[in-house]
Amino acid sequence: YVIGIDLGTSAVKILLVDQKGTVAQEISKDYPLIQEKTGYSEQDPNTWVDQTVVGLQELVHHFDGQIEDIEGISFSGQMHGLVLLDRSNEVLRPAILWNDTRTTEQCEKIYRLIGEERLLSITQNPALEGFTLPKLLWVREHEPEIYANAKTFLLPKDYLRYRLTGSIEMDYSDASGTLLLDFKENKWSKELCNLLDIDEKLCPPLVESTAEVGKITVEVAEATGLSMSTKVFAGGADNACGAIGSRILEQGTTLCSIGTSGVVLSYETENTKDFHGKVHYFNHGAPDAYYTMGVTLAAGYSLSWFKDVFAKNESFAELVSEVGKVPVGSNGLLFTPYLVGERTPYADSSIRASFIGMDGSHERKDFVRAIMEGITFSLHESITVFRDHGKEINTVVSTGGGTKNEEWLQMQADIFNAKVVKMSSEQGPGMGAAILAAYGCGWFTSLKDCAEEFLKVEKEYYPIEDNVEKYKRLFVIYQEVYKQTSEINK
Ligand code: XUL
Repeated sequence: YVIGIDLGTSAVKILLVDQKGTVAQEISKDYPLIQEKTGYSEQDPNTWVDQTVVGLQELVHHFDGQIEDIEGISFSGQMHGLVLLDRSNEVLRPAILWNDTRTTEQCEKIYRLIGEERLLSITQNPALEGFTLPKLLWVREHEPEIYANAKTFLLPKDYLRYRLTGSIEMDYSDASGTLLLDFKENKWSKELCNLLDIDEKLCPPLVESTAEVGKITVEVAEATGLSMSTKVFAGGADNACGAIGSRILEQGTTLCSIGTSGVVLSYETENTKDFHGKVHYFNHGAPDAYYTMGVTLAAGYSLSWFKDVFAKNESFAELVSEVGKVPVGSNGLLFTPYLVGERTPYADSSIRASFIGMDGSHERKDFVRAIMEGITFSLHESITVFRDHGKEINTVVSTGGGTKNEEWLQMQADIFNAKVVKMSSEQGPGMGAAILAAYGCGWFTSLKDCAEEFLKVEKEYYPIEDNVEKYKRLFVIYQEVYKQTSEINK
Protein backbone atom coordinates (compact mmCIF):
# COMPACT_ATOMS: atom_id res chain seq x y z
CA TYR A 1 0.00 0.00 0.00
CA VAL A 2 0.87 3.68 -0.36
CA ILE A 3 -0.72 6.80 1.05
CA GLY A 4 -1.47 9.93 -0.99
CA ILE A 5 -2.13 13.04 1.08
CA ASP A 6 -3.77 16.00 -0.66
CA LEU A 7 -3.53 19.13 1.49
CA GLY A 8 -6.40 21.17 0.06
CA THR A 9 -7.78 24.60 0.90
CA SER A 10 -10.76 23.33 2.89
CA ALA A 11 -9.64 19.84 3.91
CA VAL A 12 -6.87 17.28 3.84
CA LYS A 13 -7.81 14.18 1.85
CA ILE A 14 -5.96 10.97 2.56
CA LEU A 15 -6.05 7.99 0.20
CA LEU A 16 -4.81 4.48 0.96
CA VAL A 17 -4.08 2.80 -2.37
CA ASP A 18 -3.06 -0.80 -3.10
CA GLN A 19 -0.68 -2.12 -5.77
CA LYS A 20 -3.46 -2.30 -8.36
CA GLY A 21 -4.48 1.31 -7.75
CA THR A 22 -7.64 0.43 -5.85
CA VAL A 23 -8.56 2.95 -3.17
CA ALA A 24 -8.82 0.95 0.05
CA GLN A 25 -9.60 3.95 2.26
CA GLU A 26 -10.48 7.58 1.69
CA ILE A 27 -10.47 9.98 4.63
CA SER A 28 -11.15 13.71 4.69
CA LYS A 29 -10.55 16.09 7.61
CA ASP A 30 -11.40 19.73 7.27
CA TYR A 31 -9.97 22.92 8.75
CA PRO A 32 -11.13 26.53 8.77
CA LEU A 33 -10.12 29.47 6.61
CA ILE A 34 -9.23 32.63 8.50
CA GLN A 35 -10.56 35.71 6.69
CA GLU A 36 -9.88 38.68 8.96
CA LYS A 37 -10.36 41.33 6.29
CA THR A 38 -11.76 41.45 2.77
CA GLY A 39 -9.28 39.79 0.46
CA TYR A 40 -7.44 38.02 3.28
CA SER A 41 -7.27 34.22 3.29
CA GLU A 42 -5.11 32.50 5.88
CA GLN A 43 -4.79 29.18 7.65
CA ASP A 44 -3.00 27.98 10.76
CA PRO A 45 -0.39 25.46 9.53
CA ASN A 46 -0.72 23.56 12.82
CA THR A 47 -4.31 22.68 11.94
CA TRP A 48 -3.05 21.01 8.72
CA VAL A 49 -0.69 18.85 10.77
CA ASP A 50 -3.21 18.06 13.52
CA GLN A 51 -5.93 17.06 11.06
CA THR A 52 -3.52 14.97 8.98
CA VAL A 53 -2.40 13.10 12.10
CA VAL A 54 -6.05 12.51 13.10
CA GLY A 55 -6.76 11.24 9.58
CA LEU A 56 -3.75 8.92 9.61
CA GLN A 57 -4.75 7.57 13.03
CA GLU A 58 -8.18 6.76 11.61
CA LEU A 59 -6.62 5.13 8.56
CA VAL A 60 -4.35 2.92 10.69
CA HIS A 61 -7.27 2.07 12.97
CA HIS A 62 -9.27 0.70 10.03
CA PHE A 63 -6.31 -1.03 8.39
CA ASP A 64 -6.33 -4.75 8.96
CA GLY A 65 -3.08 -5.74 7.21
CA GLN A 66 0.55 -5.65 8.39
CA ILE A 67 1.43 -2.00 9.12
CA GLU A 68 4.82 -2.43 7.33
CA ASP A 69 2.83 -3.11 4.15
CA ILE A 70 2.11 0.63 4.01
CA GLU A 71 5.38 1.30 2.23
CA GLY A 72 5.32 4.95 1.24
CA ILE A 73 3.65 8.34 1.57
CA SER A 74 3.62 11.33 -0.73
CA PHE A 75 1.87 14.67 -0.96
CA SER A 76 -0.11 17.04 -3.09
CA GLY A 77 -0.83 20.53 -1.88
CA GLN A 78 -2.61 23.82 -2.46
CA MET A 79 -0.12 25.96 -4.36
CA HIS A 80 1.52 29.35 -3.71
CA GLY A 81 0.70 29.71 0.05
CA LEU A 82 3.41 31.27 2.21
CA VAL A 83 4.56 29.53 5.41
CA LEU A 84 7.33 31.35 7.30
CA LEU A 85 9.58 29.54 9.77
CA ASP A 86 12.02 30.96 12.30
CA ARG A 87 15.45 29.65 13.33
CA SER A 88 13.88 26.83 15.36
CA ASN A 89 11.54 25.96 12.49
CA GLU A 90 8.56 27.36 14.39
CA VAL A 91 5.77 28.89 12.32
CA LEU A 92 6.01 32.71 12.56
CA ARG A 93 2.48 33.68 11.45
CA PRO A 94 -0.56 32.08 9.80
CA ALA A 95 0.00 30.90 6.24
CA ILE A 96 -1.15 33.37 3.57
CA LEU A 97 -2.99 31.29 0.96
CA TRP A 98 -3.18 31.23 -2.85
CA ASN A 99 -6.61 32.87 -2.87
CA ASP A 100 -5.54 35.84 -0.73
CA THR A 101 -5.61 39.03 -2.79
CA ARG A 102 -4.00 41.64 -0.50
CA THR A 103 -0.81 41.99 -2.53
CA THR A 104 -1.76 44.17 -5.51
CA GLU A 105 0.76 46.85 -4.45
CA GLN A 106 3.54 44.30 -4.05
CA CYS A 107 2.84 42.96 -7.56
CA GLU A 108 3.17 46.51 -8.91
CA LYS A 109 6.40 46.92 -6.97
CA ILE A 110 7.81 43.70 -8.47
CA TYR A 111 7.09 45.03 -11.97
CA ARG A 112 8.65 48.39 -11.05
CA LEU A 113 11.84 46.85 -9.70
CA ILE A 114 12.28 43.96 -12.13
CA GLY A 115 10.35 45.07 -15.23
CA GLU A 116 7.52 42.94 -16.60
CA GLU A 117 9.55 41.58 -19.52
CA ARG A 118 12.47 40.51 -17.34
CA LEU A 119 10.19 38.90 -14.76
CA LEU A 120 8.42 36.93 -17.50
CA SER A 121 11.67 35.83 -19.03
CA ILE A 122 13.03 34.56 -15.68
CA THR A 123 9.92 32.98 -14.16
CA GLN A 124 7.66 32.58 -17.23
CA ASN A 125 4.78 33.79 -15.08
CA PRO A 126 3.30 37.22 -14.35
CA ALA A 127 3.15 38.85 -10.90
CA LEU A 128 -0.27 37.71 -9.67
CA GLU A 129 -1.62 38.44 -6.18
CA GLY A 130 -1.98 34.72 -5.46
CA PHE A 131 1.68 33.81 -6.01
CA THR A 132 4.17 33.49 -3.14
CA LEU A 133 6.74 36.23 -3.83
CA PRO A 134 4.31 39.17 -3.43
CA LYS A 135 3.20 37.65 -0.11
CA LEU A 136 6.81 37.57 1.10
CA LEU A 137 7.17 41.26 0.21
CA TRP A 138 3.87 42.05 1.97
CA VAL A 139 5.13 40.49 5.22
CA ARG A 140 8.42 42.39 4.93
CA GLU A 141 6.53 45.69 4.52
CA HIS A 142 3.74 45.17 7.04
CA GLU A 143 5.30 42.89 9.65
CA PRO A 144 9.04 43.71 9.58
CA GLU A 145 9.68 42.10 12.99
CA ILE A 146 8.28 38.79 11.71
CA TYR A 147 10.22 39.01 8.47
CA ALA A 148 13.42 39.74 10.40
CA ASN A 149 13.00 36.46 12.27
CA ALA A 150 12.26 34.39 9.17
CA LYS A 151 14.83 31.74 8.30
CA THR A 152 12.97 29.70 5.66
CA PHE A 153 9.83 29.95 3.60
CA LEU A 154 7.87 26.88 2.61
CA LEU A 155 4.70 26.04 0.74
CA PRO A 156 1.85 24.36 2.63
CA LYS A 157 2.51 20.70 1.85
CA ASP A 158 6.28 21.20 2.43
CA TYR A 159 5.53 22.33 5.95
CA LEU A 160 3.26 19.34 6.56
CA ARG A 161 5.97 17.02 5.22
CA TYR A 162 8.57 18.71 7.42
CA ARG A 163 6.41 18.00 10.48
CA LEU A 164 6.12 14.34 9.48
CA THR A 165 9.82 13.83 8.64
CA GLY A 166 11.88 16.64 10.21
CA SER A 167 13.35 17.35 6.79
CA ILE A 168 13.03 20.71 4.98
CA GLU A 169 12.85 21.02 1.22
CA MET A 170 10.58 22.16 -1.63
CA ASP A 171 9.91 20.34 -4.90
CA TYR A 172 10.23 22.00 -8.30
CA SER A 173 6.54 21.84 -9.18
CA ASP A 174 5.63 24.00 -6.19
CA ALA A 175 8.78 26.14 -6.41
CA SER A 176 7.83 27.17 -9.96
CA GLY A 177 4.64 28.72 -8.53
CA THR A 178 6.51 30.99 -6.12
CA LEU A 179 7.70 33.50 -8.76
CA LEU A 180 11.24 33.13 -7.43
CA LEU A 181 12.37 30.15 -9.51
CA ASP A 182 14.54 30.69 -12.58
CA PHE A 183 12.38 28.47 -14.78
CA LYS A 184 14.94 27.70 -17.49
CA GLU A 185 17.84 27.11 -15.07
CA ASN A 186 15.70 25.20 -12.57
CA LYS A 187 17.16 26.98 -9.56
CA TRP A 188 16.29 29.88 -7.28
CA SER A 189 16.83 33.13 -9.13
CA LYS A 190 19.80 35.02 -7.69
CA GLU A 191 18.89 37.97 -9.89
CA LEU A 192 15.37 38.27 -8.46
CA CYS A 193 16.65 37.82 -4.90
CA ASN A 194 19.27 40.53 -5.47
CA LEU A 195 16.93 43.02 -7.14
CA LEU A 196 14.31 42.58 -4.44
CA ASP A 197 16.85 42.36 -1.62
CA ILE A 198 15.67 38.95 -0.47
CA ASP A 199 18.21 36.75 1.30
CA GLU A 200 18.52 33.64 -0.91
CA LYS A 201 19.00 31.59 2.26
CA LEU A 202 15.25 31.97 2.85
CA CYS A 203 14.71 29.65 -0.12
CA PRO A 204 14.71 25.97 0.86
CA PRO A 205 16.71 23.22 -0.92
CA LEU A 206 15.03 22.01 -4.13
CA VAL A 207 14.20 18.37 -4.89
CA GLU A 208 12.23 16.40 -7.48
CA SER A 209 8.65 15.45 -6.59
CA THR A 210 9.70 11.80 -6.81
CA ALA A 211 12.64 12.22 -4.37
CA GLU A 212 12.70 10.16 -1.19
CA VAL A 213 13.28 12.76 1.51
CA GLY A 214 13.32 10.51 4.57
CA LYS A 215 11.16 8.42 6.83
CA ILE A 216 8.49 9.45 9.31
CA THR A 217 9.73 10.50 12.74
CA VAL A 218 9.42 8.40 15.92
CA GLU A 219 6.85 10.86 17.28
CA VAL A 220 4.67 10.65 14.16
CA ALA A 221 5.00 6.84 14.07
CA GLU A 222 3.87 6.74 17.70
CA ALA A 223 1.04 9.22 17.19
CA THR A 224 -0.37 7.56 14.08
CA GLY A 225 0.57 3.90 14.43
CA LEU A 226 2.39 3.96 11.07
CA SER A 227 5.66 2.04 10.75
CA MET A 228 8.92 3.99 11.02
CA SER A 229 10.03 2.23 7.86
CA THR A 230 7.40 4.16 5.84
CA LYS A 231 9.28 6.06 3.12
CA VAL A 232 8.34 9.66 2.46
CA PHE A 233 8.52 11.17 -1.04
CA ALA A 234 8.50 14.92 -1.69
CA GLY A 235 5.23 15.19 -3.67
CA GLY A 236 4.05 18.16 -5.70
CA ALA A 237 1.69 21.04 -6.36
CA ASP A 238 -1.98 20.03 -6.51
CA ASN A 239 -2.23 20.86 -10.19
CA ALA A 240 0.90 18.81 -10.99
CA CYS A 241 -0.44 15.91 -8.91
CA GLY A 242 -3.89 16.33 -10.48
CA ALA A 243 -2.15 15.91 -13.84
CA ILE A 244 -0.39 12.73 -12.69
CA GLY A 245 -3.65 11.46 -11.19
CA SER A 246 -5.40 11.94 -14.55
CA ARG A 247 -2.69 10.39 -16.75
CA ILE A 248 -1.40 13.70 -18.14
CA LEU A 249 2.08 12.23 -18.56
CA GLU A 250 2.88 12.38 -22.27
CA GLN A 251 2.90 14.84 -25.16
CA GLY A 252 -0.55 15.59 -26.54
CA THR A 253 -2.44 14.90 -23.31
CA THR A 254 -4.39 17.71 -21.68
CA LEU A 255 -6.61 17.89 -18.62
CA CYS A 256 -9.91 19.75 -18.43
CA SER A 257 -11.07 19.95 -14.85
CA ILE A 258 -14.29 21.81 -14.10
CA GLY A 259 -15.01 22.69 -10.51
CA THR A 260 -16.02 26.09 -9.11
CA SER A 261 -13.19 27.32 -11.28
CA GLY A 262 -12.00 25.44 -14.34
CA VAL A 263 -8.51 24.39 -15.33
CA VAL A 264 -7.01 23.20 -18.59
CA LEU A 265 -3.52 21.82 -18.23
CA SER A 266 -1.25 20.43 -20.91
CA TYR A 267 1.88 18.29 -20.67
CA GLU A 268 5.08 19.92 -21.98
CA THR A 269 8.53 18.45 -22.52
CA GLU A 270 10.20 21.85 -22.98
CA ASN A 271 10.77 24.75 -20.61
CA THR A 272 11.90 27.14 -23.32
CA LYS A 273 8.61 28.27 -24.86
CA ASP A 274 7.46 31.84 -24.33
CA PHE A 275 3.75 32.20 -23.53
CA HIS A 276 4.35 35.73 -22.32
CA GLY A 277 2.39 35.08 -19.14
CA LYS A 278 -0.91 34.51 -20.99
CA VAL A 279 -1.12 31.05 -19.44
CA HIS A 280 0.75 29.63 -16.46
CA TYR A 281 3.88 27.56 -17.13
CA PHE A 282 5.08 25.37 -14.26
CA ASN A 283 7.26 22.33 -13.52
CA HIS A 284 5.41 19.03 -13.60
CA GLY A 285 5.74 16.40 -10.86
CA ALA A 286 7.35 14.12 -13.43
CA PRO A 287 11.09 14.85 -13.73
CA ASP A 288 12.14 16.95 -16.76
CA ALA A 289 8.54 17.73 -17.62
CA TYR A 290 6.44 20.88 -17.44
CA TYR A 291 2.85 21.91 -17.91
CA THR A 292 0.97 24.89 -19.18
CA MET A 293 -2.20 25.83 -17.41
CA GLY A 294 -5.19 28.03 -18.11
CA VAL A 295 -7.74 29.00 -15.47
CA THR A 296 -11.36 30.10 -15.91
CA LEU A 297 -12.34 31.59 -12.58
CA ALA A 298 -16.12 31.16 -12.86
CA ALA A 299 -16.57 27.75 -14.47
CA GLY A 300 -18.93 25.61 -12.36
CA TYR A 301 -19.58 28.83 -10.45
CA SER A 302 -21.35 30.27 -13.51
CA LEU A 303 -23.84 27.40 -13.44
CA SER A 304 -24.32 27.54 -9.67
CA TRP A 305 -24.86 31.31 -9.88
CA PHE A 306 -27.57 30.75 -12.51
CA LYS A 307 -29.16 27.96 -10.46
CA ASP A 308 -29.18 30.10 -7.31
CA VAL A 309 -30.83 33.02 -9.08
CA PHE A 310 -33.26 31.22 -11.41
CA ALA A 311 -33.71 27.62 -10.25
CA LYS A 312 -33.00 27.55 -6.54
CA ASN A 313 -35.15 24.55 -5.75
CA GLU A 314 -33.84 22.30 -8.47
CA SER A 315 -30.85 19.99 -8.50
CA PHE A 316 -27.98 20.47 -10.96
CA ALA A 317 -29.03 17.25 -12.69
CA GLU A 318 -32.51 18.71 -13.31
CA LEU A 319 -31.11 22.05 -14.42
CA VAL A 320 -28.89 20.52 -17.10
CA SER A 321 -31.25 17.68 -18.07
CA GLU A 322 -32.67 19.50 -21.11
CA VAL A 323 -29.52 20.81 -22.75
CA GLY A 324 -29.56 17.92 -25.21
CA LYS A 325 -32.78 19.36 -26.66
CA VAL A 326 -31.04 22.66 -27.49
CA PRO A 327 -28.98 22.72 -30.70
CA VAL A 328 -25.27 23.59 -30.92
CA GLY A 329 -24.99 27.36 -30.45
CA SER A 330 -27.95 27.61 -28.02
CA ASN A 331 -30.29 29.11 -30.62
CA GLY A 332 -28.11 32.20 -31.00
CA LEU A 333 -27.44 32.84 -27.30
CA LEU A 334 -23.82 33.38 -26.28
CA PHE A 335 -22.40 33.61 -22.75
CA THR A 336 -18.99 34.77 -21.50
CA PRO A 337 -18.29 33.47 -17.97
CA TYR A 338 -16.48 36.47 -16.46
CA LEU A 339 -18.71 36.72 -13.36
CA VAL A 340 -15.73 37.30 -11.05
CA GLY A 341 -13.16 38.56 -13.55
CA GLU A 342 -10.75 36.31 -15.42
CA ARG A 343 -7.28 34.81 -14.93
CA THR A 344 -6.15 33.42 -18.32
CA PRO A 345 -5.60 34.27 -21.08
CA TYR A 346 -6.66 37.70 -19.74
CA ALA A 347 -5.46 38.47 -16.22
CA ASP A 348 -8.32 40.92 -15.66
CA SER A 349 -10.14 41.22 -12.36
CA SER A 350 -12.58 43.88 -13.58
CA ILE A 351 -14.07 42.21 -16.69
CA ARG A 352 -17.65 41.00 -16.21
CA ALA A 353 -19.84 38.32 -17.83
CA SER A 354 -22.42 38.74 -20.57
CA PHE A 355 -25.30 37.08 -22.39
CA ILE A 356 -25.47 38.17 -26.00
CA GLY A 357 -28.14 37.48 -28.62
CA MET A 358 -31.19 37.10 -26.36
CA ASP A 359 -34.43 36.48 -28.21
CA GLY A 360 -38.05 36.52 -27.00
CA SER A 361 -38.29 32.82 -27.79
CA HIS A 362 -35.38 31.73 -25.58
CA GLU A 363 -36.20 29.39 -22.75
CA ARG A 364 -34.28 28.55 -19.63
CA LYS A 365 -32.67 25.52 -21.26
CA ASP A 366 -31.12 27.80 -23.93
CA PHE A 367 -29.50 29.82 -21.15
CA VAL A 368 -28.18 26.69 -19.46
CA ARG A 369 -26.65 25.37 -22.67
CA ALA A 370 -25.20 28.81 -23.45
CA ILE A 371 -23.54 28.86 -20.02
CA MET A 372 -22.01 25.42 -20.58
CA GLU A 373 -20.79 26.48 -24.01
CA GLY A 374 -19.39 29.77 -22.63
CA ILE A 375 -17.42 27.99 -19.90
CA THR A 376 -16.03 25.58 -22.47
CA PHE A 377 -15.16 28.42 -24.89
CA SER A 378 -13.30 30.15 -22.08
CA LEU A 379 -11.21 27.04 -21.37
CA HIS A 380 -10.74 26.63 -25.12
CA GLU A 381 -9.18 30.11 -25.26
CA SER A 382 -6.32 28.85 -23.10
CA ILE A 383 -6.07 25.66 -25.17
CA THR A 384 -5.84 27.90 -28.23
CA VAL A 385 -2.85 29.67 -26.63
CA PHE A 386 -1.20 26.25 -26.05
CA ARG A 387 -1.83 25.31 -29.70
CA ASP A 388 -0.62 28.68 -31.01
CA HIS A 389 2.71 27.80 -29.39
CA GLY A 390 3.12 24.59 -31.32
CA LYS A 391 1.23 22.24 -29.02
CA GLU A 392 -0.61 19.31 -30.59
CA ILE A 393 -3.49 18.27 -28.43
CA ASN A 394 -5.16 14.99 -29.26
CA THR A 395 -6.55 13.76 -25.94
CA VAL A 396 -8.33 15.79 -23.30
CA VAL A 397 -9.04 13.98 -20.03
CA SER A 398 -12.14 15.55 -18.53
CA THR A 399 -12.71 15.52 -14.77
CA GLY A 400 -15.00 17.18 -12.23
CA GLY A 401 -18.39 18.73 -12.97
CA GLY A 402 -17.79 18.64 -16.73
CA THR A 403 -18.14 14.83 -16.73
CA LYS A 404 -21.52 14.77 -15.01
CA ASN A 405 -23.42 15.32 -18.25
CA GLU A 406 -22.95 13.45 -21.55
CA GLU A 407 -23.88 16.51 -23.62
CA TRP A 408 -21.17 18.53 -21.93
CA LEU A 409 -18.55 15.86 -22.63
CA GLN A 410 -19.54 15.84 -26.32
CA MET A 411 -19.51 19.66 -26.30
CA GLN A 412 -15.93 19.60 -24.97
CA ALA A 413 -14.89 17.22 -27.78
CA ASP A 414 -16.56 19.50 -30.36
CA ILE A 415 -15.21 22.80 -28.98
CA PHE A 416 -11.69 21.55 -28.19
CA ASN A 417 -11.71 19.56 -31.46
CA ALA A 418 -10.01 16.66 -29.69
CA LYS A 419 -10.91 13.28 -28.29
CA VAL A 420 -12.33 13.71 -24.78
CA VAL A 421 -11.84 10.92 -22.27
CA LYS A 422 -13.76 10.18 -19.11
CA MET A 423 -11.90 8.01 -16.57
CA SER A 424 -13.59 5.27 -14.57
CA SER A 425 -12.59 6.79 -11.24
CA GLU A 426 -11.59 10.29 -10.21
CA GLN A 427 -9.31 10.86 -7.26
CA GLY A 428 -7.31 13.71 -8.79
CA PRO A 429 -4.38 15.15 -6.83
CA GLY A 430 -4.54 12.59 -3.98
CA MET A 431 -4.15 9.79 -6.53
CA GLY A 432 -1.28 11.70 -8.15
CA ALA A 433 0.45 11.80 -4.75
CA ALA A 434 -0.17 8.06 -4.29
CA ILE A 435 1.33 7.42 -7.76
CA LEU A 436 4.45 9.43 -6.79
CA ALA A 437 4.80 7.19 -3.71
CA ALA A 438 4.13 3.97 -5.66
CA TYR A 439 6.77 4.90 -8.22
CA GLY A 440 9.16 5.93 -5.43
CA CYS A 441 8.70 2.57 -3.73
CA GLY A 442 9.87 0.91 -6.95
CA TRP A 443 6.53 -0.66 -7.90
CA PHE A 444 6.81 0.67 -11.48
CA THR A 445 9.62 1.87 -13.74
CA SER A 446 7.85 5.10 -14.67
CA LEU A 447 5.06 7.35 -13.41
CA LYS A 448 3.30 6.76 -16.72
CA ASP A 449 3.30 2.95 -16.30
CA CYS A 450 1.94 3.37 -12.81
CA ALA A 451 -0.79 5.81 -13.88
CA GLU A 452 -1.82 3.49 -16.73
CA GLU A 453 -2.11 0.57 -14.33
CA PHE A 454 -4.02 2.58 -11.71
CA LEU A 455 -6.36 4.62 -13.93
CA LYS A 456 -8.66 3.22 -16.60
CA VAL A 457 -10.65 4.93 -19.35
CA GLU A 458 -14.43 4.62 -19.03
CA LYS A 459 -15.63 6.30 -22.20
CA GLU A 460 -14.31 8.36 -25.11
CA TYR A 461 -16.05 11.16 -27.01
CA TYR A 462 -14.99 12.11 -30.54
CA PRO A 463 -15.49 15.49 -32.23
CA ILE A 464 -18.44 15.61 -34.67
CA GLU A 465 -17.26 17.47 -37.77
CA ASP A 466 -20.43 19.50 -38.29
CA ASN A 467 -20.46 20.68 -34.66
CA VAL A 468 -16.74 21.50 -34.79
CA GLU A 469 -17.34 23.84 -37.73
CA LYS A 470 -20.28 25.58 -36.02
CA TYR A 471 -18.31 26.07 -32.82
CA LYS A 472 -15.30 27.43 -34.73
CA ARG A 473 -17.51 30.18 -36.14
CA LEU A 474 -19.05 30.99 -32.76
CA PHE A 475 -15.66 31.01 -31.04
CA VAL A 476 -14.53 33.90 -33.27
CA ILE A 477 -17.52 35.92 -32.06
CA TYR A 478 -16.96 34.75 -28.46
CA GLN A 479 -13.40 36.14 -28.56
CA GLU A 480 -14.66 39.51 -29.78
CA VAL A 481 -16.84 39.92 -26.68
CA TYR A 482 -13.89 40.30 -24.31
CA LYS A 483 -12.26 42.89 -26.57
CA GLN A 484 -15.47 44.87 -26.88
CA THR A 485 -16.45 44.78 -23.19
CA SER A 486 -13.14 44.88 -21.33
CA GLU A 487 -13.45 48.63 -20.67
CA ILE A 488 -16.92 48.42 -19.09
CA ASN A 489 -15.75 48.46 -15.47
CA LYS A 490 -12.45 50.32 -15.88
C1 XUL B 1 -3.05 27.41 -9.11
C2 XUL B 1 -3.87 27.84 -7.95
C3 XUL B 1 -4.85 26.89 -7.39
C4 XUL B 1 -4.37 26.27 -6.15
C5 XUL B 1 -5.53 25.54 -5.49
O1 XUL B 1 -2.29 28.43 -9.67
O2 XUL B 1 -3.74 28.92 -7.45
O3 XUL B 1 -5.22 25.91 -8.32
O4 XUL B 1 -3.30 25.40 -6.41
O5 XUL B 1 -5.12 24.69 -4.53
